[in-house]
Amino acid sequence: MSELETIRRFEEACLTREIRDDPSALGALLTEGLVEVGSSGRIWTRREILERLPNEAPFEFELLDFATERLGESVILATYSCVLMRDGNANHTRRSSVWVFAQDRWRMHFHQGTPCGPLLSRPEYPVNETDLEALVALTRRTYTAAFGASLDPEDLASHLDETLTFSAFERAIAKDLFVFEREGDDIVGFAQIGEVEIDTAKTKRPAQQGDVELRRLYVAPEYQRSGIGMRVLSNALNLSLVREADAIYLDVWTKNENAKRLYLRSGFAEIGSTSFATASGEASDPDLILVRTRS
Ligand SMILES: CC(C)(COP(=O)(O)OP(=O)(O)OC[C@H]1O[C@@H](n2cnc3c(N)ncnc32)[C@H](O)[C@@H]1OP(=O)(O)O)[C@@H](O)C(=O)NCCC(=O)NCCS
Repeated sequence: MSELETIRRFEEACLTREIRDDPSALGALLTEGLVEVGSSGRIWTRREILERLPNEAPFEFELLDFATERLGESVILATYSCVLMRDGNANHTRRSSVWVFAQDRWRMHFHQGTPCGPLLSRPEYPVNETDLEALVALTRRTYTAAFGASLDPEDLASHLDETLTFSAFERAIAKDLFVFEREGDDIVGFAQIGEVEIDTAKTKRPAQQGDVELRRLYVAPEYQRSGIGMRVLSNALNLSLVREADAIYLDVWTKNENAKRLYLRSGFAEIGSTSFATASGEASDPDLILVRTRS
């Protein structure tokens, strides 16, 4: 197991009910001098944490953007974003922890969490109307910049007016999972994941129950080529819903070389093709169907 996986597993363990309810198991993951700066700014000591956590209300969580950096022979910095769902409320934070190697194992020595805007969307991780409007505007702008020149103007207009609308995204937000990348308060990229809707019956690997589809991966034109696309994709692939699926599908326009390179680099492989229908008929270039399987 890599260093990153080990530390990620420990961070996740610290968030599970099983470990939080068991002071000796949790204590084994913390140094004697552990300090936590909570999201309110309050400072918690190890003893206070071991007393507080068993009495907490249960919650679900999802980690995003997990990264580690070795700061010394026995010191690792872990940074990530976290969506925590409790009593119907979503709490989004950016977190960091310092792990030190002490008494034969990695132990958390410092932890901090800062509240931030929504990182994930679906009914239980609500997104406000301003975010939804920004998401639609970003999608329409990015779609036009990427594909506008290759489409008949009427086909472009009808795609914008019929598919990339506020109400279509309201419905999508209710059923699919969205991962956001933000710059300050602005959404600059996102991925959308849901049940498989692509027709995969004639491909080399037809979809099965529980498989998922990456429906969109968009980065605002002015933010492209700076690593955001890869980061959003890897956050999407790291969602528990996706990690638990046997396969994740997507379709990509044959001529979309930028996206194809990103997907092939991330373990996707081509398994078939499908025609892409525009308002005025069938597009001349097909879409490729790609899949990334767990095995
Ligand atoms: C496809 C898309 C999501 C990629 O997003 P992105 O943010 O540009 O992706 P990345 O920055 O991670 O990678 C893109 C390239 O920039 C390079 N890059 C990344 N960081 C870089 C940096 N700091 N400096 C220079 N180049 C960089 C990557 O190596 C990659 O190079 P490659 O094209 O030669 O393989 C984006 O182009 C997009 O939104 N396109 C329109 C919508 C679309 O086509 N979506 C996919 C539909 S299936």
